[in-house]
Amino acid sequence: MAAWFEQVARAQGEFEVVACDLKELALPLLDEPEHPRTGKYSHAHTLRWSKLTAAADAYVFVLPEYNFGPPASLLNALSYLSAEWAYKPAAFVSYGGMSGGIRAVQVAKQLMTTQKIVPLLEAVAVQNVGTLVDAEGKFQPAALHGESAAAMLKELARWAAALRPLRAPTP
Ligand SMILES: Cc1cc2nc3c(=O)[nH]c(=O)nc-3n(C[C@H](O)[C@H](O)[C@H](O)COP(=O)(O)O)c2cc1C
Repeated sequence: MAAWFEQVARAQGEFEVVACDLKELALPLLDEPEHPRTGKYSHAHTLRWSKLTAAADAYVFVLPEYNFGPPASLLNALSYLSAEWAYKPAAFVSYGGMSGGIRAVQVAKQLMTTQKIVPLLEAVAVQNVGTLVDAEGKFQPAALHGESAAAMLKELARWAAALRPLRAPTP
């Protein structure tokens, strides 16, 4: 799913796309001694994650639904940081069974607003994902998925531009 979306986003050309796989980052369960608001990080994995997150103007989270919610790995990764997320828009590519992951997205949105992330309406929701994966395990999108992704990226670019002034250092 992430590979498909990465390729769609690159082809659209609105953003300089940096893919980031939480599995590769392998963040332990939050293990920083200080609150992230302080920005005082003591572990190399946090500094790496902080740098990646701070460098972005906007986010697209690609997530499955687990038990009507987002995966624990995403919530853990969000909790590591604070200022890095603020005043940036986020969009979602979700997947799952009948719900297409929309319940996971709703929960994620609520939590993200605490970190001043601005979640968007436009989204890609892939229902019954198991039926859209080929023998090699590759996602085979329907036309709607590509159309939704294009509309979402367009809106994300608008919000990224609109929120940029809020991220300027305050005098
Ligand atoms: C523990 C667990 C809970 C799940 N809960 C849901 C759920 O609440 N709603 C849903 O639509 N799919 C649910 N699924 C199905 C997953 O969203 C689906 O298998 C998805 O492909 C998993 O993504 P992953 O392979 O990237 O981890 C669940 C799967 C697992 C393993």
